[in-house]
Amino acid sequence: MKTPLPLAEVYAILEPGPVLLLGTAQDGRANLMPMSWHCMMEFEPPLVGCVVSAANHSFAALEATGECVLNVPTAELAQQLVDCGNSHGDELDKYARYGLTAAPSAAVQVPRVEECYANLECRVVDRQLVGRYNFFILQVVQAWCDPAVKAPRTLHHRGYGKFMLAGEEITLDSAMR
Ligand SMILES: Cc1cc2nc3c(=O)[nH]c(=O)nc-3n(C[C@H](O)[C@H](O)[C@H](O)COP(=O)(O)O)c2cc1C
Repeated sequence: MKTPLPLAEVYAILEPGPVLLLGTAQDGRANLMPMSWHCMMEFEPPLVGCVVSAANHSFAALEATGECVLNVPTAELAQQLVDCGNSHGDELDKYARYGLTAAPSAAVQVPRVEECYANLECRVVDRQLVGRYNFFILQVVQAWCDPAVKAPRTLHHRGYGKFMLAGEEITLDSAMR
């Protein structure tokens, strides 16, 4: 039997995941923040919409530079992911503090997180909804993925510090690509 869900908890039902580590850089300082409020908007070129709160240090860097990297962590990085979400980039160097490696990107000035199984280098292409919703539209301009990772155990946020791990994969006959 279902019971009413408080509206403040709706996000935990709909959050699509995987939780990403949003990489930004400004004035030579790279930063990371976990981000789960994102959605695909187009196949090719790939467009991704995302909400970055103006209260976060990452917002200013994304707004100023128009560049970022969407790093996709797997279960092994869960603790570092949460640590990055419990701290702010203007107060510490999260790469150094949490033992993450900044690798150079190909198309943007923001580094990629080496330990993440995939990295999507992005540019902001539409800011129309930033003022109203802190919603940025990004275009992925260069993508990297480790082909050795066959079934990535990505992290999916359930709210209140809980995460689901991606697990079993099934394949069905589908017209959807
Ligand atoms: C699992 C998880 C998901 C999060 N998703 C978002 C998000 O989608 N947008 C956002 O603005 N903040 C999100 N946050 C909060 C930021 O990651 C957090 O405020 C972080 O400390 C910001 O870092 P910064 O100040 O260095 O940018 C999330 C945090 C966690 C732990």
